[in-house]
Amino acid sequence: MKVCIVGASGKLGKYMVQHALHRGYEVVGVCRERSIGKLDAFRGRIRIVGGATNDPGVIREAVAGCDGVLTVLVPWGVHQYASGTAQAVLDHARPDARLVFSCGWHITRDGKDVYSRRFRWTVAAAGWLARRLRVVDLADQVEACRRVFASDARWTVVRGSDLEEGESQGLPVWSRHVGDPVLESNLTRRIDFALFMVEALENDALIHEAPAIVGCRTPSALAHAAAPGGAR
Ligand SMILES: NC(=O)c1ccc[n+]([C@@H]2O[C@H](COP(=O)([O-])OP(=O)(O)OC[C@H]3O[C@@H](n4cnc5c(N)ncnc54)[C@H](OP(=O)(O)O)[C@@H]3O)[C@@H](O)[C@H]2O)c1
Repeated sequence: MKVCIVGASGKLGKYMVQHALHRGYEVVGVCRERSIGKLDAFRGRIRIVGGATNDPGVIREAVAGCDGVLTVLVPWGVHQYASGTAQAVLDHARPDARLVFSCGWHITRDGKDVYSRRFRWTVAAAGWLARRLRVVDLADQVEACRRVFASDARWTVVRGSDLEEGESQGLPVWSRHVGDPVLESNLTRRIDFALFMVEALENDALIHEAPAIVGCRTPSALAHAAAPGGAR
């Protein structure tokens, strides 16, 4: 399988490169020119296309011939970086390619997610402050996901919980809605978020799903696994 990783030089991206190479995939990574050095550890094993991830020309070149595209959606700046990135991938990936996008729990597909007051307050406060400082525009990540949800492509939008570093604990478990008890622990290792993204490429059951994930060793996941019915 040939996969393109858009946002390959970030923390999540580098873990995805690692998992993809481990599976024997051919990897093309996209990152800003200034960040190419962050991929030195993979030199000679992946092809790198340097440039802004919302540049249609950069994405067209990078996704050519790819069976799958893993995209890190980040709401940096106030110039439609996330929606521009998503649109470029939707426009230029092969129509039959598997497309997997990352975002956070704050994205809702059907409005049925149930958020704690603390979560809503944190997202609102952080979003307001970041927008005022013109560093991050969370609304643009929402727009990016809206475009993905509306597309006929073979997409999956993986919604990450709070993240931590550490060794892999295994494939996270998931649920369709934030607020479901299995997700209560709200913590996933970043390396396992990346694992879920890469595994999704070959899991057709996740097509047109927006799984909210949580670490498989967290208390809420373990409690759910022990209950009748078990974990996904
Ligand atoms: N952080 C969290 O707690 C958290 C929680 C839930 C979900 N998520 C989701 O997880 C994914 C990865 O997030 P992460 O926080 O772990 O970050 P990350 O993997 O380190 O990725 C950050 C990405 O943003 C790029 N970037 C940084 N500054 C930029 C700028 N000014 N303009 C354009 N691009 C810029 C980085 O590229 P360079 O390498 O070029 O800098 C990198 O590709 C995202 O989809 C996020 O929504 C994160």
